[in-house]
Amino acid sequence: MLELRDPNFQRITNKELAENFIASQIKEIKEVVKDKKVLLALSGGVDSSVCAALLFKAIGNNLVCVHVNHGLLRKGESEQVIEVFKNNMGANLIYVDASDRFLNALQGISNPEEKRKIIGKIFIDVFSEEAKKLDGISFLGQGTIYPDILESKGIKAHHNVGGLPKELNFNLVEPIKFLYKDEVRQVGLALGLPIQMVNRQPFPGPGLGVRCVGAITRDRLEAVRESDAILREEFKNAGLDKKVWQYFTVVPPITSTGIKNNKRTDEWPVIIRAVNSIDATKATIEEIPYFVLFKIRDRILNEVKGVNRVLYDISDKPVATIEWE
Ligand code: XMP
Repeated sequence: MLELRDPNFQRITNKELAENFIASQIKEIKEVVKDKKVLLALSGGVDSSVCAALLFKAIGNNLVCVHVNHGLLRKGESEQVIEVFKNNMGANLIYVDASDRFLNALQGISNPEEKRKIIGKIFIDVFSEEAKKLDGISFLGQGTIYPDILESKGIKAHHNVGGLPKELNFNLVEPIKFLYKDEVRQVGLALGLPIQMVNRQPFPGPGLGVRCVGAITRDRLEAVRESDAILREEFKNAGLDKKVWQYFTVVPPITSTGIKNNKRTDEWPVIIRAVNSIDATKATIEEIPYFVLFKIRDRILNEVKGVNRVLYDISDKPVATIEWE
């Protein structure tokens, strides 16, 4: 049965309310978990990060976080998770680099839904294997938030890659399950998480995998990752990271003719996508100043291997979707 938020629950709109929420959740978590251990899949997204920080505050090193790198993360993402949670917070974090396993399984697979299924399945396999290696885990922490509970299935199989491996049979701890996204961010800030982590743009579970269109190859995936890093850096420099809801690059599996050092090239195009949206059901493209686009174009064409064109996708959702797959 659908569990609904208490209508008397006060919306968390400021630091004080966030602190009250944190205090009451810590008390509740301690009562439920006692001296038992909680395992949590920590992707580094807003929800799992806030959930981890909250659980850590309540039970310290009885929280065991597992960060699975599926090889489809953005540049610097795993490093940030390790820096924030292991180095700064002192949390118990297991880092699993399963990139090869994911990328090998995805080889030659071009159907988007099949790609999602493979990523979701291997994630569960890797996470379950880690769980089995650990002793004395009683609970599974999960950064479920209220829209996850309310949302029905959409057009695409939105596998929540941080999702629960059902066969693990742990009791669930979901301390932020009645919060909306803006409330999760308030709580994250009050917990002292870095602002760039708390305000992070949405990032799909299958990661760059749905932006390396068609069958993923390592070299084209690298072009997605490097161009995405440039785009993010230049959006930040131009202050657009605060104005645009989601922005990323896509590299389709086609080449076109270009010219470099007086020689013909057959290389990929990089497509820039920058949209504004409230809840991802509809999206409009953002007007990006040309000088910013030119800077990004120059950097991508100079710095990213295998690319000879930069395009800007001006399609709204609908008729397009936000991601290319
Ligand atoms: P679309 O492409 O359907 O995306 O307009 C809407 C929002 O959902 C994100 N998205 C995903 N998130 N797993 C996720 O967790 C997925 O498979 C997935 N596909 C798309 C997308 O980034 C956008 O914010």
